[in-house]
Amino acid sequence: MKKLSQLEITPSNSPLVKGENQTGSYSMRTPPSKHPTTVLIHARLATMDAMHPAPYGLLADHALVIEGTRITAVAPSHTIQIPPDANVIDVAGRWVTPGLIDCHTHLIYGGNRAAEWEMRLQGVPYTEIARQGGGILNSVRATRSLQEAELLREALPRARALASEGVTTIEIKSGYGLTLSDEIKMLQVAKALQQELPITMVPTLLAAHAVPPEYAGRADDYVSLIVDEIIPAVAAEQLAEAVDVFCEKIAFSVPQCERIWSAARHYGLGVKGHVEQLSNQGGCVAMARYQPWSADHIEYLDEAGVAALAQCGGVAVLLPGAYYFLRETQKPPVAALRQAGVPLAVATDLNPGTSPFASLRWAMNMACVLFGLTPEEALAGATRVAARALRRHGQLGTLAVGKQADIVVWDIEHPAEIVCAMGINRVWGRMHQGRWDHAPA
Ligand code: NIG
Ligand code: FE
Repeated sequence: MKKLSQLEITPSNSPLVKGENQTGSYSMRTPPSKHPTTVLIHARLATMDAMHPAPYGLLADHALVIEGTRITAVAPSHTIQIPPDANVIDVAGRWVTPGLIDCHTHLIYGGNRAAEWEMRLQGVPYTEIARQGGGILNSVRATRSLQEAELLREALPRARALASEGVTTIEIKSGYGLTLSDEIKMLQVAKALQQELPITMVPTLLAAHAVPPEYAGRADDYVSLIVDEIIPAVAAEQLAEAVDVFCEKIAFSVPQCERIWSAARHYGLGVKGHVEQLSNQGGCVAMARYQPWSADHIEYLDEAGVAALAQCGGVAVLLPGAYYFLRETQKPPVAALRQAGVPLAVATDLNPGTSPFASLRWAMNMACVLFGLTPEEALAGATRVAARALRRHGQLGTLAVGKQADIVVWDIEHPAEIVCAMGINRVWGRMHQGRWDHAPA
């Protein structure tokens, strides 16, 4: 077995000694020219692959072969052919899962909104703070004032915090710029983050997050700017894979969102929406006409919305962090969604206002405690279903031959511990695209 020092990507400080890491600060060394072949043996694979009927898609005492950036074999340990020169790692019965996927974040932003949170605790509603020019517009002012390098510096610790607990893919939205150049600046930072860290970043344009102050009272004109200039420019530069909107009384109306979804489709970009978060606007039913990737938040989703989402094949992205920090009482209709066969993803919604926390494991925990998901559903929601929400399910989200080699080895006795035991990090090894960055000791 190779030692930590021989591996290409290692923690730069405080290596994740088993069970001890709390901060997970690490960075990437110069990438090697060639990946070694790695074979993990004696693993309990929580494949999260629905093909395997056991809970968590368990394959007991299995081996996983990783060549280059892909998984090339999954087989019982005693049958595996070990290629010459392979780096063989006996994980001694440890659990192995796909890398975690946070499919909804706003992790690039300037400033912080702790003072607003204090106001909210004293009873001032989020919507009232927004109407007074705080909320999203508060973060817009702070984000506009920062250069790319400064925004990158602010975002790095958040991305590292997610990575330290096993996240290998992060969706990142713009939406605190709200001008062509500031939205592009945010998306460039998302690109730069991907260069800095062993994480796959999936950028999303969220120019329709709030009506910027310079367009106050002229929301339709701002939507024209998004449709006529921002979406075409972002598509031309391939800076985003999808387009999101905030469909809400304090943000954009259904007809305005439809103009944006329609433009997104025109430019070949994915469609998604923050819909029915604070009230039911019928956004999900309308969005279903645009083949959306996902409907996110959906606390106020009604029967018609559930049916529309089931019919269009979109994923329901549950964001219990926002529910928790807003002290919301309306829960998303989980039972109806399950009944209708809508896949349930779970994400952090990491942002400075409604969900200021950087832990996908905590989000999974909240999805169980607050929304009634089972730990297995929560883990599927942060792996297989999250991959579907990003339309990367062909490459990510399960342990299967052909998938990208994004894997986490856990020092745990049961996979529910990933979702249950908070405040302690049991990541024993983390691999992104075939390379260890937090290597087994
Ligand atoms: O997902 N709902 C809209 N957007 C974010 C909130 C962003 C903010 O308050 O800064 C959300 O909850
Ligand atoms: Fe969000």
